[in-house]
Amino acid sequence: MDEKIEQLKQEAAEVIRKHAATLTELNDIRVRYLGKKGEITNLLRSLGQLSQEDRPRVGQIVNTARVQLEALIAQKNAELKARELADRLSSEEIDITLPGRMQPVGHLHPLTLTQNRIKNIFMDMGFTVEEGPEIERDYFNFEALNLPKDHPARDMQDSFYITDEILMRTQTSPVQARTMQAHEPNAPIRMIAPGRVYRRDDYDATHSPMFTQVEGLVIDRGISLADLKGTLELFLHKIFNPDVGVRFRPSFFPFTEPSAEVDISCVMCHGKGCRVCKGTGWLEILGAGMVHPHVLEMSGYDPHQVSGFAFGLGVERIAMLSYGIDDLRLFYDNDLRFLRQF
Ligand code: PHE
Repeated sequence: MDEKIEQLKQEAAEVIRKHAATLTELNDIRVRYLGKKGEITNLLRSLGQLSQEDRPRVGQIVNTARVQLEALIAQKNAELKARELADRLSSEEIDITLPGRMQPVGHLHPLTLTQNRIKNIFMDMGFTVEEGPEIERDYFNFEALNLPKDHPARDMQDSFYITDEILMRTQTSPVQARTMQAHEPNAPIRMIAPGRVYRRDDYDATHSPMFTQVEGLVIDRGISLADLKGTLELFLHKIFNPDVGVRFRPSFFPFTEPSAEVDISCVMCHGKGCRVCKGTGWLEILGAGMVHPHVLEMSGYDPHQVSGFAFGLGVERIAMLSYGIDDLRLFYDNDLRFLRQF
């Protein structure tokens, strides 16, 4: 009997050491020897068949064997658990040192950036920012600006008509009339109106049938040409640099009288004459003038009470000069190699 117990114990120990590769296998082994119908358990049960004197001694041996096997199983159990955890940790490992996948974030288009700079300079001077529709009535685009039907100056801005009375606006100037008509007669106005305009034009390095303007309008009692000149000079010095030369040349617009083209000294050659300024040393930058009395009247303002000035500038032109861009089409091509530079 003693030998049999020892043999069984050795066998069980061997099986535990060598054949328990997983926790499930270990459990099966435990059941086989120590379970309710396990081999060691059976031995304990058969003690009753032994003689009175043998019983305590053999009982103790079986018990010791049981305790030893249980300890062995507990040890193996801890070992297997630790290994399984280590396996899981290494197989489920996440490499947190890899850089994440960045969501690409866009940025503002150079024309928007330039438009924002222009807006900020005028807002600092107390101007409001107004908007008007790109699909405009002939009345606001031309008629209310002193360009009656058949006025020859319309030809210069021949545009995309949708009906005889509706067209893609050719300039931001219609916002002048719209803003005046939205105010009480003679109420002071100090506004700019940025936006897209459309003209039947070529598409080349300096022309596009769609481009961006910023309109300006100031109306109040006693506004004079000096206010126009001072405002535009301040603006041009801020948007380019304080040393830039500014020159007013007489010109014609049907809605301003007198009218002027405003030039700045060439930002490329500083007035010496180069390819960009075509040797003149000057660059035409905007159109301006004192609001024509008839334009004031047509929108309900009294030219005997108030006066005003207006101006219109091209955003592309200013962006090209401030960034040194020589082809206007780059703004519309959506080539990321170009856009990423801003
Ligand atoms: N609307 C004119 C143009 O597009 C510019 C301008 C605006 C001129 C306001 C005078 C006053 O050419």
